[in-house]
Amino acid sequence: TWTAENVIADQVARIREQVGADRVICGLSGGVDSSVAAALVHRAVGEQLTCVFVDHGLLRSGEKEQVERDFVAATGVDLITVDAAERFLSALAGVTDPETKRKIIGREFIRVFEDAAREVVARAGAHGEVVKFLVQGTLYPDVVESGGGDGAANIKSHHNVGGLPDDLQFELVEPLRELFKDEVRQVGLQLGVPEAIVWRQPFPGPGLGIRIIGEVTKERLDVLRAADAIVRQELTAAGLDREIWQCPVVLLADVRSVGVQGDGRTYGHPIVLRPVSSEDAMTADWSRLPYDLLATISNRITNEVADVNRVVLDVTSKPPGTIEWE
Ligand code: XMP
Repeated sequence: TWTAENVIADQVARIREQVGADRVICGLSGGVDSSVAAALVHRAVGEQLTCVFVDHGLLRSGEKEQVERDFVAATGVDLITVDAAERFLSALAGVTDPETKRKIIGREFIRVFEDAAREVVARAGAHGEVVKFLVQGTLYPDVVESGGGDGAANIKSHHNVGGLPDDLQFELVEPLRELFKDEVRQVGLQLGVPEAIVWRQPFPGPGLGIRIIGEVTKERLDVLRAADAIVRQELTAAGLDREIWQCPVVLLADVRSVGVQGDGRTYGHPIVLRPVSSEDAMTADWSRLPYDLLATISNRITNEVADVNRVVLDVTSKPPGTIEWE
């Protein structure tokens, strides 16, 4: 019979057999898949695992703390955080084309991750150890039809591991290869992974970088982060987290419209809400959120977020609209 306990026992044995006494590295994104994979490998080989979390500066509010504080507290993994926000922002300066943004973010991500991996390898080497393995949170659906994955730490979605530089050849450890998403969540809960991570909705690897329509700047990221935090708070308070597939919050940074706020006219930016329901992100329908909830979100964003004077709702299904705006 399928139980999370059985899966954990089975995978722990398999990971120990595969890894032996060698060291293991894992890229964490803050999403479900990489977190549960890391927790499972940590359960199996403990201190032999080092996790790397790349902060590209395109994260949502609280995500870094969720990994650095909550995930580490819950699992005890050894974690290296790389603060690369400046590097990503300079690489993105002046760029507005969506695919170019994705390419730049993917490229920089791999470079930063490789540098961190080299550091882990060097550190281990100094102790006479070898880093031979790389953990990937590949799920069964990813194996069947490649694609999907859940964020920046799914290195394969950006980059084939076989294509890493010669001094960074790792053998893969993929303990979730036989599992579906709901099973991964059960395993994560059983391993004590924080619920906020276990139930996290999909979030794209390029992060808020593809939710600012126009050039990505620090100021714009701060505006979008504030609006996004309000939307997530209110969806959670309304108990809708598990009903909605995801709700991208998008800043139309190059659009301005006239508003009236306080004692004067404003000329601010619109925020778009894109709540969708879906089974697999291949198709999606726009979520019929309660009007009162939409009203609360709109009031809060326009009152609390500087430079935003309008909130609009995306009522397009997929197809023809994609879930993300870029
Ligand atoms: P679209 O916008 O294509 O999104 O309908 C489908 C699903 O994929 C996510 N998404 C991405 N995930 N890197 C990722 O890791 C990306 O570049 C990317 N683009 C879209 C999106 O959030 C949705 O869940």
